[in-house]
Amino acid sequence: MKRILSLFAITTLLFSSCQKDLTTKEKEEYIVKGKEIAQNTVKKLGGNLMQQMKKGGPKQAIPFCNTAANPLTKEVADKYQVSIKRTSHKIRNEDNNPNATETAILNQYLASLSKGEKLKPIVSKDKEGNVHFYAPMKLEAKCLACHGTVGKEVSVKTDSLIKSLYPNDKATGFKVGDLRGIVNITFKSE
Ligand code: HEC
Repeated sequence: MKRILSLFAITTLLFSSCQKDLTTKEKEEYIVKGKEIAQNTVKKLGGNLMQQMKKGGPKQAIPFCNTAANPLTKEVADKYQVSIKRTSHKIRNEDNNPNATETAILNQYLASLSKGEKLKPIVSKDKEGNVHFYAPMKLEAKCLACHGTVGKEVSVKTDSLIKSLYPNDKATGFKVGDLRGIVNITFKSE
């Protein structure tokens, strides 16, 4: 009897969570939208960053990142009426610390990457009914000056500038193709 009851409980649980879940079609729509927003965020941040790098190298671009990265991200978010968060398993700016769900997704991506699998976006609904689009952010060659190995791509001078702004910086030592972090785009429920 006990076993039947617990089976019943599990089935009800599965069923109710299925009911709240998004349909495949809805998920596909969020993936299209999420990709568009993520690309626009990267374009906005990357474009501004590279301009600063050209003008004055890391010495100019790091203070720029420090003050402008989150406001620029918010500009894109406001345009699409979503919220956008960049986070990582190796954080530089503690304002970007991951929550429990983001940590689980980062670990999932790290495991997939170590198996040589392709990383795909993830769409899921939270308890409040908000839909989240998560996508990986890989490290590219142009990121190395500020996220590569200290003493190699990141000069000691650049590292001390980073440390002066972020004393607990964990975001160096990356190689091209590594998982740098994720973007979490939240579509708020009405
Ligand atoms: C000029 C130096 C510089 C370059 C180049 C750079 N970053 Fe950063 N990055 C920073 C700084 C400074 C921060 C902390 C400020 C912020 O963005 O919130 C940061 C933060 C981040 C974060 C947010 C998570 C965290 O640790 O706080 C991600 C994700 C990130 N960078 C990815 C990248 C990627 C991917 C590239 C290359 C396409 C890149 N960065 C290039 C300096 C740089």
